[in-house]
Amino acid sequence: MYFLGGVTLAFLMAKRSVMPIGCRMPQDPSPQDETSLFREAWGLYDALAEMNYMFHREIYGQVEALLDEVRQRGPWSMLDLGCGNARFLSPCLSATPPLQYDGVDLSATALEEARLRFLRHLPSFSLHQRDMLEAVEAGLGRFDVIFSSFAVHHLGLEEKARLFRACSAALMPGGRLILVDVVREQGQTRDEYITGYLQVMRSQWTRVLPAELEAACGHVAAFDFPETLETLQELAEAASLPRMRVVSQHAQHYVLVFEP
Ligand SMILES: C[S@@+](CC[C@H](N)C(=O)[O-])C[C@H]1O[C@@H](n2cnc3c(N)ncnc32)[C@H](O)[C@@H]1O
Repeated sequence: MYFLGGVTLAFLMAKRSVMPIGCRMPQDPSPQDETSLFREAWGLYDALAEMNYMFHREIYGQVEALLDEVRQRGPWSMLDLGCGNARFLSPCLSATPPLQYDGVDLSATALEEARLRFLRHLPSFSLHQRDMLEAVEAGLGRFDVIFSSFAVHHLGLEEKARLFRACSAALMPGGRLILVDVVREQGQTRDEYITGYLQVMRSQWTRVLPAELEAACGHVAAFDFPETLETLQELAEAASLPRMRVVSQHAQHYVLVFEP
């Protein structure tokens, strides 16, 4: 039996009415892609985050402090790209919520949870079920904070470059891009990164059912394309966001701020 804080992972998944990975809903014939895990088994990702294997608690503590710097200046707005269910962001928004929050994600399940459970306390929010690059390029407005957590590494290099450019154009004067993501070490190939990350998952993510762990490993191996810090800085500079701050690092997981 696999327990997390007295609650089984199986119970968590059942509670969220999600199918285990590999058990496709008959009415869902869509092919596997970088968001399949989140569309079909949102509860698994949510449970992994709850177990803090990706340092969500530490990271979102830092995100809250970064948001505090912005909201001291007055009313503010926020765009969240790949927002998921906004479960960890939600408490960071309680004290001084944004006047307007926009969240973008492809997962209907995650957005529904965001709408019903985690964003209810906000004065005004809009959720968009669409591709985040397409959404920000199409122009959802201008924001004091653009935030993205553990989503940008799914994009290819050219898509990341476009995302930085679109985010730069969508920032209000004095605004900032807060990026939480996995990062490759300088000189490390993607294959080396993936091998290292899978080793950590298989040796340290011990409270996950073996079949679910392998599904999560398969997702990482197929769809994670993290960049090095140097590449992220180059992309940001080319997008007129030359000031990069490394706020924190937790193993492969980073909190970064980019500003004009
Ligand atoms: C690992 S989860 C992160 C969720 C949340 N931001 C967090 O920090 O816990 C990645 C999220 O990004 C979404 N996502 C991935 N690629 C996307 C894309 N191209 N457009 C919109 N959402 C995307 C997935 O559906 C998923 O909800």
